Amino acid sequence: MAAAVITGGTDGIGRALATTYLDRGHHVLIVGTDPAKGAAFRAEAHRRGAGERAHFLAADLSLVAENRRLIDHVATHHPAVDLLVLGARYHRSTRAETADGLESNFALFYLSRHLLSHGLLPQLRRAERPVVLNFGAVGQGGPVRWDDLQLRRDYPGTGALGHGGALCDLLAAHLAHLHPDVHQVVNHPGVTATGFAGEYDPATAAHVDRLRVHGKPVSTAVAQILPHLDAPGPGLTAVLEGRRVRTDTPAFDLVAARRLHAVTEQLLAAL
Ligand SMILES: NC(=O)c1ccc[n+]([C@@H]2O[C@H](COP(=O)([O-])OP(=O)(O)OC[C@H]3O[C@@H](n4cnc5c(N)ncnc54)[C@H](OP(=O)(O)O)[C@@H]3O)[C@@H](O)[C@H]2O)c1
Repeated sequence: MAAAVITGGTDGIGRALATTYLDRGHHVLIVGTDPAKGAAFRAEAHRRGAGERAHFLAADLSLVAENRRLIDHVATHHPAVDLLVLGARYHRSTRAETADGLESNFALFYLSRHLLSHGLLPQLRRAERPVVLNFGAVGQGGPVRWDDLQLRRDYPGTGALGHGGALCDLLAAHLAHLHPDVHQVVNHPGVTATGFAGEYDPATAAHVDRLRVHGKPVSTAVAQILPHLDAPGPGLTAVLEGRRVRTDTPAFDLVAARRLHAVTEQLLAAL
C-alpha cells in the first residue's frame, strides 16, 4: 500500500496535501507538534472512510533525536514510502536556539530535512516511483552565509526562512545527484494564506496578518505543485509558484551542495 510521510502535515499546505493523498488511497503519516491537530486529521479521515490509513506522530523536529525517532517509527510502520514531504517550519523574529544548541530555523527548516531525506532513503527506495517534496527558496533565498550558517550575527528576522530555503535548494540538488532513482522536487509556493506558525515581533505580526489575508488559497498552492509530484522530471525538479524553473543556476550548484553536505555531517558528528 502506498504511503506518504508529511512533516508540517498538521497545518497549511502540508495538511491539504495529506488530505489529497488520503483521498488517493495512500496511508498518510503526518508529523507536527500539536496532538489536537493530529486528532482532528484522524477524525476527518474517519469521516471520509479512511480512518485506518490516517496516522499522526507528535514530534519536535527541531531536535535531532526527534528526527531519528521519526525515522525509526517510519522504518517500523511504513516499509515503503512513495512521497516524503518536508514542510515543517516555525518562524521566530528573534534568534533562538534549540536544546541541541542549534539556531532554531537552521535546525527545523534545514537540518531536519537533511536528516529525514537521508534517513528515509531505504523506505523511499522500496517504492516504485519515490518523490521527495522539499519546500525551498528556489533561488529566492539570497546568498548562503557560509561563515555563519546559524545566523549568529545580524539575525535577519523573516530572512532566516529564506536562508533555510537556500540551504534546502542545495540539499535537494545534492540528493538528486547522489540518488537519481529518488525524484527531488523543490518548491516555492509563493505567498499562501496559511497559519504562518511562529513567534513574531509586532511589526512582523502585522505583516504576517496581511499575508494571511492576501496570500493565495492553500488549494491553489496544492493545485500548482501536484502535477510536478505526479510527473517529476528526472533528477531535480524546481518549481516556483507552479512553474518549472531551471536548475543549472547557482542556487543548485553542486560544488556548494557538496560543501554544505560536508559541513552538515561534521556538525552532526560533533553533536
Ligand atoms: N505559506 C506561505 O506563504 C509560504 C511561502 C513560501 C514557502 N512556504 C513553505 O511551505 C511549507 C508549508 O508552509 P505553510 O505555510 O503551509 O506552514 P504552516 O501553515 O505555518 O504550518 C507549519 C507546520 O509546521 C509544523 N511545525 C512547526 N514547528 C514544528 C516543529 N518544531 N516540529 C514539527 N513540526 C513543526 C506545524 O505543526 P504543529 O502546529 O502541529 O506544530 C505545521 O504543521 C513550509 O516549508 C514553508 O516554509 C510557505
